[in-house]
Amino acid sequence: MDDVIFRSPRKRGRVAVFLSGRGSNFMAIREAVRRGDINVDIALVFSNRVDAPGLAKAREWGLKTLFLNPKLFASREEYDRAVIQELEQRQIDLVCLAGYMKVLTPELCDAFQHRIVNIHPALLPSFPGLHVQQKAIDWGVRFSGCTVHFVAAEVDLGPIILQAVVPVLQDDTEETLAARILVEEHRIYPEAVRLYFEGRIEVRGRRVFILEPEA
Ligand code: GRF
Repeated sequence: MDDVIFRSPRKRGRVAVFLSGRGSNFMAIREAVRRGDINVDIALVFSNRVDAPGLAKAREWGLKTLFLNPKLFASREEYDRAVIQELEQRQIDLVCLAGYMKVLTPELCDAFQHRIVNIHPALLPSFPGLHVQQKAIDWGVRFSGCTVHFVAAEVDLGPIILQAVVPVLQDDTEETLAARILVEEHRIYPEAVRLYFEGRIEVRGRRVFILEPEA
């Protein structure tokens, strides 16, 4: 078996959620925090979109928010350098991408290796990219689902932490399939964050092992 290249920390984690849109996954994570199901503080909600509804929600809930305007930076690299600084200043342990519609630079991925996770609405490595619910329908697969994975420099290709499967029905539209998948997203994303800060995630090669809870 491959050597262990990463073991997640057992601690109260400081999490940053990155979003560009409605933020329902952010809300699911926040709800799990509120219920006491996961041992984290949401220390930052970050967006590249000033009008992201998820950002407005975070403000309403009194969470720390930050918007950085991509237009004010000369390049993606400069933008992500500013992001790295913000994350370091706030001592962020884990970044949860939740509908963040900006591809991260290799520099950011490397600076936060095994400290950035993403949720994707398909069973990776099938259907990376965008509009994947429609692609799953068009391909004719019988099952789709969602994937929580570590973020590596190659888009949608980091080691897989959790997946959930949903059936694709004959009369599904992009919307109905997306809605069925979303229910599972809201279940497995907080679950992955919980396992992470219980120190139960171990990476060997490209495989992620979920460890038994410590006694
Ligand atoms: C979700 O479908 C997620 O899988 C994808 O982007 C969408 C974000 O939705 N990465 P929301 O903003 O969390 O509601």
